[in-house]
Amino acid sequence: MRMVDLIAKKRDGGILSKQEIDFIIKGYTKSDIPDYQLSAWAMAIYFKGMTSEEVAHLTMAMTLSGDMVNLSEIEGVKVDKHSTGGVGDTTTIILAPLVAAAGIPVAKMSGRGLGHTGGTIDKLESIPGFHVELTPEEFIHNVNEFKIAVIGQSGNLTPADKKLYGLRDVTATVDSIPLIASSIMSKKIAAGADAIVLDVKTGAGAFMKSLDDAKALASAMVDIGRELGRHTVAIISDMSQPLGYAVGNSLEIREAIDTLRGQGPEDLTRLVLTLGAHMVVLGGKADTYDQAYSLLEELIRSGKALEVLKQFVAAQGGTTDVIDDPDKLPKAPYQVSVTAPVDGYIHAIQAEEIGIAAMLLGAGRPTKESSIDLAVGVMLTKKVGQAVRQGETIAILHANQENVSAIAAKIEQAFSIQNEACEEPVLIYDIIH
Ligand code: URA
Ligand code: CA
Repeated sequence: MRMVDLIAKKRDGGILSKQEIDFIIKGYTKSDIPDYQLSAWAMAIYFKGMTSEEVAHLTMAMTLSGDMVNLSEIEGVKVDKHSTGGVGDTTTIILAPLVAAAGIPVAKMSGRGLGHTGGTIDKLESIPGFHVELTPEEFIHNVNEFKIAVIGQSGNLTPADKKLYGLRDVTATVDSIPLIASSIMSKKIAAGADAIVLDVKTGAGAFMKSLDDAKALASAMVDIGRELGRHTVAIISDMSQPLGYAVGNSLEIREAIDTLRGQGPEDLTRLVLTLGAHMVVLGGKADTYDQAYSLLEELIRSGKALEVLKQFVAAQGGTTDVIDDPDKLPKAPYQVSVTAPVDGYIHAIQAEEIGIAAMLLGAGRPTKESSIDLAVGVMLTKKVGQAVRQGETIAILHANQENVSAIAAKIEQAFSIQNEACEEPVLIYDIIH
């Protein structure tokens, strides 16, 4: 087989076989096939697309390019959740103990934040003492015992995807649905998922700006799941504003605790219950979605989900006092209000801009080496659809320095305030099975 022929085949709209795709991904992982040929191939896919069989073969080839996490010693169906990227996306920290309380094993490998997107591990580390340095044995033991454990990324997972994603980034081939879908799904399968619930975001703040693109990506991933025997459900949810109110590590932990107490923001709560109910059905702990949804509501109402959070935090070295009294979480010394410049209605809150503002305050890492301040961030006080008066507070910056006027100006610009009234946005657009 010659790579040049396979590039030409795809360029001319041909369908690549499993053997051909394996040849490309194996050759590229070993650096037998150079970047320039992969670039041309990725561009051919960008224009000609792939069939669902091709995408499934590509996914599996990337999954098999490195280590696979072995979760076979964990009892039950391992259901993983993935979000295509939100700002202040606190869902994982709420969902994990919630579905664990329903009996779904949560064996989560998580990362740190980079740029304007936060990382679950950073957020959890705002709980004093909490750590993710578990041995593989402790990790498996904790999941079997408490149904939940979170560990840092280790091993050499999907090296082909790492290499290809880096290449796509500099060759204008990121925005290709077959390439995005296979990239995401290969990582989930390598991490040991038996079933997957996807939260595909749409809207100005999302990777997929239009609803049609979000649906196409969701369908592509659900198809991969079907081809590869991993039940997959995708929810299409709104990102015309950040989810909930909090963006920042300890601020989001507080929001997660509030939500597990039944006192969280309405949008965040509803999205968590929706994602969680699908996880519970896929994990075989309820027969119908409605039963699963009621079960999760009851686990919040009874305090069981919060109890699981405490067990999980304690098992990983964290102090549980902060869960009873979130005032004990790290707190920033300065709180600076951002106010509405005019009267009107909020039409949009650019999530990415809010995320960048939180990063600039110190909540996120501009580069991999930067250190972060767990206490700082942004608390929104208004959401899309609400009316505001000039001078009314729309957000509060939690800062570690007094002068944050440039960041405050950025937040103000992230709000689009107009004269005409506007509806609250739809939160969940569609569900793809
Ligand atoms: N996220 C990924 O993991 N891969 C992509 O290709 C795009 C977004
Ligand atoms: Ca949030």
